[in-house]
Amino acid sequence: SLGPDVVDIRSFGKTGLFTYDPGFLATASCESKITFIDGDLGQLYYRGYPIEQLAEHSDFLEACYLLLNGELPNAKEKADFDYMVMRHNMLHDQILSFYKGFRRDAHPMAVMVGVVGALSAFYHDSLDINDPHHREVSAFRLIAKVPTIAAQAYRYNKGLPFSYPKGGLSYAENFLHMMFSTPVTEYKVNPVLAKALDRIFILHADHEQNASTSTVRLAGSSGANPFACIAAGIACLWGPSHGGANEAVLKMLAEIGDESKIGEFIQGVKDKRFKLMGFGHRVYKNMDPRAEIMRRTCHEVLTELGLQDDPKFKLAMKLEEIALNDPYFVERKLYPNVDFYSGIVLSAIGIPVSMFTPIFALSRTVGWISHWTEMIADPTMKIGRPRQLYTGSPRRDYVPLDERK
Ligand code: ACO
Repeated sequence: SLGPDVVDIRSFGKTGLFTYDPGFLATASCESKITFIDGDLGQLYYRGYPIEQLAEHSDFLEACYLLLNGELPNAKEKADFDYMVMRHNMLHDQILSFYKGFRRDAHPMAVMVGVVGALSAFYHDSLDINDPHHREVSAFRLIAKVPTIAAQAYRYNKGLPFSYPKGGLSYAENFLHMMFSTPVTEYKVNPVLAKALDRIFILHADHEQNASTSTVRLAGSSGANPFACIAAGIACLWGPSHGGANEAVLKMLAEIGDESKIGEFIQGVKDKRFKLMGFGHRVYKNMDPRAEIMRRTCHEVLTELGLQDDPKFKLAMKLEEIALNDPYFVERKLYPNVDFYSGIVLSAIGIPVSMFTPIFALSRTVGWISHWTEMIADPTMKIGRPRQLYTGSPRRDYVPLDERK
């Protein structure tokens, strides 16, 4: 039932065999009904729905409902869900005081790891992981509060007063409002930019067993509470090989400078001095479908802002074209991933680079909590406990300190 290429390792446990698979190149760690990636064809589905259709017709909260519950909501379910998320989006004043312990120049991801983890010290009424209602409330709290937590991390860094979510705005609009409104100037939401941000949220919402989602599952498998598990996911996402890539793409484009330097840069990549950030993926050996959508979104946003000739975008397109026709990348099946263009869109919207990965984290929170919920609700769940191939010293006897050389 697992398919012709899949061996169910559970049968091996009885014979004492185990596999050695560093980086989990060929090992499924769980069963899941949430997201399917066809890496060879470059396709991505949430609960069976193609990502292209969701990015075009849905909105982020609807995608959240779908990921969490398995089905698209009807009109009433959608309204109730939106209301529940809105109801939970404030931060208690005491939570706001957590921020004061951080240096002003702390990276917002560091602040998010701390504040999200600390929610477990605050919400004792949703920590019983065996109670489905507690799990649901934790999910609402996380999806609702993570944008507020991220926006306040930015404001704290800037020395701006904390801002509050506002009724009547969509999830993406509220995030922009919380980031940029000041006591004297209300942020005027541009619908094209808000739609682009909402699409970025949808595209990053889930991606099956990536490093951060696997981290959340592994942490959760010990019975740890959901806030602590999501904090672990945020910590994992921070790395430049994962969620930090969109930030790294912009730094790379700035370092290349202009089209005349692309050849030299590509040679450096081939010499293994650095990587082409925003390219390559463990599962996609074809175009990442999210990258196509992101490139189109990038066009829309830059056109709306009258920035069609944006040098970063032109440089990125040229770099993509050259890489896609270069045997080094072709042979290794390296294609642009979602982060190749998302940084350009975010910076055009006015989001500072330090907030790129926090935006990925707030989008992915729904994926993490959906996987955590799926795992906890499964009565056959086992604690995650990888094995190792020991390559250390053989047995030897203890030498007293005064006899050691
Ligand atoms: N630039 C140059 N060469 C690359 C790149 C890249 N971006 N990615 C992989 N390669 C090369 C490797 O050097 C290796 O070459 P070799 O066979 O000569 O040794 C070959 O392609 C295979 O690469 P692996 O490292 O084995 O691929 P892996 O699946 O382990 O890594 C990863 C995937 C981490 C995403 C990698 O492609 C990478 O570092 N990309 C850049 C960072 C990035 O964009 N990350 C975002 C990922 S998507 C996300 O998190 C949303």
